[in-house]
Amino acid sequence: MSQIDYLVKSSGQLNGEFRVPGDKSISHRSIMFGAIADGVTRVTGFLQGEDSLNTLRAFRAMGVEIEGPNAKGEVTIHGVGIDGLKQPASDIDLGNSGTSIRLMSGLLSGQTFDVVLSGDRSLSKRPMKRVTDPLALMGARVDTEEGGKPPLRIHGGSDINGIDYELPMASAQVKSCLLLAGMYAQGKTCVTEPAITRDHTERMLNAFGYKVETQGNRMCLEGGGRLTACNIDVPADISSAAFFMVGASIAEKADITLQHVGVNPTRTGIIDILKLMGANIELLNERTVGGEPVADIRVISTQLKGINVPENLVPLAIDEFPVLFVAAACATGKTVITGAEELRVKESDRIQVMADGLLAIGVDCEATPDGMIINGGTIQGGKVHSRDDHRIAMAFTMAALRAESDIIIEDCENVNTSFPDFVGIANRAGIAVSIAK
Ligand code: S3P
Repeated sequence: MSQIDYLVKSSGQLNGEFRVPGDKSISHRSIMFGAIADGVTRVTGFLQGEDSLNTLRAFRAMGVEIEGPNAKGEVTIHGVGIDGLKQPASDIDLGNSGTSIRLMSGLLSGQTFDVVLSGDRSLSKRPMKRVTDPLALMGARVDTEEGGKPPLRIHGGSDINGIDYELPMASAQVKSCLLLAGMYAQGKTCVTEPAITRDHTERMLNAFGYKVETQGNRMCLEGGGRLTACNIDVPADISSAAFFMVGASIAEKADITLQHVGVNPTRTGIIDILKLMGANIELLNERTVGGEPVADIRVISTQLKGINVPENLVPLAIDEFPVLFVAAACATGKTVITGAEELRVKESDRIQVMADGLLAIGVDCEATPDGMIINGGTIQGGKVHSRDDHRIAMAFTMAALRAESDIIIEDCENVNTSFPDFVGIANRAGIAVSIAK
């Protein structure tokens, strides 16, 4: 793959009404659950990013007929039923996608066949013991590379038993992995999370007729059930909208409306945090679409102020911290983020990589083991590196809106994993970003 760098002109205004691509978490799950359902599942608004396409290709490789996605993001999945997956002809490469590998490790632990799941340079460094340890307690056999890293070698034909497991970290991927393994287990599987995380798995399994009981932060399901195909309308991804929510807040002049954004309460930490910082954000036309809350989000520029980010909001905004650090860099006063050590094991070490980049463009900040301290002020501009991480690249694109000189961002290929046409949408909204190959 050739390296793509972004050149972003300093300053700019943001205007207009637009829709960002489909929710990544919901897109992954629509393929996985549609594939093992009985009947035909129709998905609209599917994210045509590399991550969700990797999940789609993986299920095709396991014998599921999947049509699309077409230009409108429509995907039709001919479900093979809970026991209908077939052994793929070769190892499955899941690229950059942590959600694919962690959720599929659970789902595939209950199959009769062996399968190997691998990924790119970034995914190959990410911790998998958080899924393989509890899967082993359930009786699954999954080998990792040294240090618990991918590839994962999953041995089929194991007897899987239900488990009652307390998650050591707030992770929707681990929770989902165990619930999916639990569908293939004898008896009941329960997971208790230390803090509420995104609940798309629970909502969508219920929509497919597979009952998941939730009581506070504890979720349970019985093994041995079946899924019935249904239609899924994927809303725009709040994690992609977040870049423009911050961009519009920090730009000198901005008034944007982001259409049809998923506002599931387990994902709206970004809105709460920005509001605490004084942002002018309004939710319009709130409605429920296919079991998920959706709204249009209007954002008008304001001067943000620094805050101590409440720790209970961290898991509800976990993917939004790269761009929240940029918001804090433009706020008056100090912003302190704590309790966010999970950021160190995302597509990159998002605390270190963001601190390095912010320092390079003249921001006064300090990385801490579990967060960052940022003294807001001016952004000078300069050169930063995204370190294989899509959200780092897009966060620094927004920083240019308030920079005194241009920002060059190296290594932006991976923006395609979650936000195809980011450059087109950003330019149409008023950010002068071009690709410098
Ligand atoms: C996701 C869960 C989160 C998030 C990721 C998507 C999911 O990861 O960062 O982008 O779809 O379940 P963790 O569960 O590891 O926090």
